[in-house]
Amino acid sequence: MIETLNRDHGLPGRLHFETGPGDLVCVVLEHPASRCRVALHGGQVLSWVPAGGEEVLFLSQTSHLDGVRSIRGGVPICWPWFGNRPDAPDSPQHGFARTSSFRVGEAFENAAGVGIELEFDGANPTREDWPHPFSLRVRVSVGAELEIALETRNTGDRPFTIGAALHTYFRVGDAERLALRGLAGGEYLDKVRDFARDTQHEEPVIRGEVDRVYLDTEASCQLEDAVLGRRIDIAKAGSRTTVLWNPGPEQAAAMADFDDEGYREMVCVEAVNAFDDQRIVAPGGRHTLSTRLSVSPLG
Ligand code: BG6
Repeated sequence: MIETLNRDHGLPGRLHFETGPGDLVCVVLEHPASRCRVALHGGQVLSWVPAGGEEVLFLSQTSHLDGVRSIRGGVPICWPWFGNRPDAPDSPQHGFARTSSFRVGEAFENAAGVGIELEFDGANPTREDWPHPFSLRVRVSVGAELEIALETRNTGDRPFTIGAALHTYFRVGDAERLALRGLAGGEYLDKVRDFARDTQHEEPVIRGEVDRVYLDTEASCQLEDAVLGRRIDIAKAGSRTTVLWNPGPEQAAAMADFDDEGYREMVCVEAVNAFDDQRIVAPGGRHTLSTRLSVSPLG
């Protein structure tokens, strides 16, 4: 399979396929400015390393990597709903894209870098909880930045409503010592306090479990990491919701696929469509949710 993928889609020195962690089939994008690995399982970015720098993304050491269950780390794609579906309680949290296999689409090179498009479609949907024909494409490109764009197309003849997230797990030196910027002044729903609505007066800090849905925000966020000496800029488009998540010690210990101490080394800042920011996609229509990451030394 790897050989065939390399023959049909490889770009020598720029893009190749290999088996990655857990023997998952992955595409590796290589650019002088950075290197990225994406699993076909879930269309999920697993690693992004700027040249001369360190890994930007957190991947749990105890993650399932069996090509069936979701991968704990990198950038999971939550789709076509975010969180639980109250109308279908047996449906999987965060949808089914992250546990589905994506097909390899177009490999491309442009002035900004090198990229790959992965596709997942439901031309003959069999799911009762999602009986809609669709095409989902994720375009991942790397150069000086990592860009991930998730495009939903409605290939049926009725509108549907989607929720989604690019659920990015950032690797950090010490979550409690992180300076987060971009969320102060906004309103949020606090999932730790039964979705209580609150105002974020100052920038949030990570202490214990944090699970907040920031509403009506298109702002970029910054993670200033004094321990790793770097700043990560997180821009997004097609989203007015940002989720900030760290499971804290108790939740981390309760999850089989999360290292007990891993909560110290990660934080999720997610570009989301959820709640009032779910999107209606008309027949023949599209919606694109995207995020763009860049890293610079902390001056
Ligand atoms: C976050 C949610 O986006 O994802 C949290 O806000 C959730 O409530 C977290 O716990 C992880 O979800 P999962 O399904 O990957 O364990």
